[in-house]
Amino acid sequence: MNNTHPPSAPETEASPEAAQSSARIASLVKRLDRPLVLVGMMGVGKSTIGRKLASTLGLPFTDADDAIVEAAKMPIADMFDQFGEASFRDGERRVIARLLERGLCVIATGGGAFVQPDTAELILAKGLPIWLDSDLETLVERVGRNSKRPLLRGGNVRDIVTRMKAEREPFYAKARFKVMSDTGPHNATVTRILEGLEQCL
Ligand code: S3P
Repeated sequence: MNNTHPPSAPETEASPEAAQSSARIASLVKRLDRPLVLVGMMGVGKSTIGRKLASTLGLPFTDADDAIVEAAKMPIADMFDQFGEASFRDGERRVIARLLERGLCVIATGGGAFVQPDTAELILAKGLPIWLDSDLETLVERVGRNSKRPLLRGGNVRDIVTRMKAEREPFYAKARFKVMSDTGPHNATVTRILEGLEQCL
């Protein structure tokens, strides 16, 4: 019996949707001329979303806090305890300056980096800052799961995060655009970042 069906497409062929989105991503990356830098409050998901964004764009990802820990060979809490916050901020600025020279990539910064004038100036000059934001409840819930952050010690986490969020928002607002990172799927947040990039590139 003759087979009346046309031969099926090879399995490796991308679907029209996938081909369209990879063309869209390739065109975005082509227009990108500087590192993407995620800024925003602790607990907002900068590392998780940054990693996902980088893999979507096919770019390297670095977590600035991890790079600081690697350079200093000690945990962030120990840096605060032994040398104080000013010394940590100095190291943070130097590490971020170095990461910004590495070509196209995605960098997740610690929550205080974009609040430091010198570090913010560097990021604004050499990177494309994106503000990742969440509502207060989500932030409090997420940071409550991890007690390692030195700035959350010795006080009520909700009060500290509430005050910090209010104080820092005017600084984060200097980013090129803001994306909400809520409790929904990470892919949805990455899609919103891609939409923001499409509008500003
Ligand atoms: C800080 C946030 C931390 C870390 C340090 C200070 C801040 O990073 O850099 O504890 O000032 O908000 P995450 O935002 O990744 O928690």
